[in-house]
Amino acid sequence: MSAGQRPEVQAAGPSHVAVIMDGNGRWAQLRGLPRHEGHRRGLEALRRTVRNASDLGIEILTVYSFSTENWRRPAAEVSFLMTLLKHFIEKDLTELGAAGVRVRVIGGRSDLAPDLRRLVEHAEATTRNNTGMTLVVAFNYGSRDEIVRAARQLASDVAAGLVDATTIDESSISARLDTADLPDPELVIRTSGETRISNFLLWQAAYAEFVFTPVLWPDFDRAALEEALAEYRRRERRFGGVSEPSGRNVGVA
Ligand code: FPP
Repeated sequence: MSAGQRPEVQAAGPSHVAVIMDGNGRWAQLRGLPRHEGHRRGLEALRRTVRNASDLGIEILTVYSFSTENWRRPAAEVSFLMTLLKHFIEKDLTELGAAGVRVRVIGGRSDLAPDLRRLVEHAEATTRNNTGMTLVVAFNYGSRDEIVRAARQLASDVAAGLVDATTIDESSISARLDTADLPDPELVIRTSGETRISNFLLWQAAYAEFVFTPVLWPDFDRAALEEALAEYRRRERRFGGVSEPSGRNVGVA
């Protein structure tokens, strides 16, 4: 896409797409391969999706790469996923940075190994001023954990006299979530045919459209992404007459 040309998605939205990348294990199992091979191919699908999303004019892409529940997986799988994140940040960062991508990582930081934490901080710091697509990697992320951390922060601000409890409203919570300065996603995609939200962006996805695709994450390609975007736009058009200026539908649950 040449500079200055605005892709079609800008006009029709969505500008923030979140993805639950599911099905790596089943993809591997179907081929008689170990689960880690599914994750390795999942990382390739992630790289591909970042390129495609940016190309299609999506402004923010949030991906669920490791949940607070994923610690319960076998130690070898957990360690492999940690290594993949490290690898993704180290190997892809230069390329992503050069393409103008801004990297953000959401999720609890205190459980991460110090070297991984430093990498994450470095990735965020070095891409902070980039003006291309924002890639938000949800790692050690769980919505309930995020809301609990926000509630603790708010309680401590009240105790310190910084916040008057009677003035607490939705924005007081939003401002203390990991996603504080990001707009809510308009579209959440889940791959692999599962139709659950699995503790992902519970607060932020309150008004999002959900698209569930049977495609297993390692097979998720440009056509699958475009189909999800087309489905989103079909739904938006259906309610077009009652949309408020922000694009959200009024009075339609
Ligand atoms: C769900 O598939 C996927 C994950 C728990 C990990 C997602 C990781 C990637 C896409 C690779 C990139 C990783 C990082 C850290 C950047 P599953 O294993 O639950 O699949 P299954 O439901 O078929 O078993």
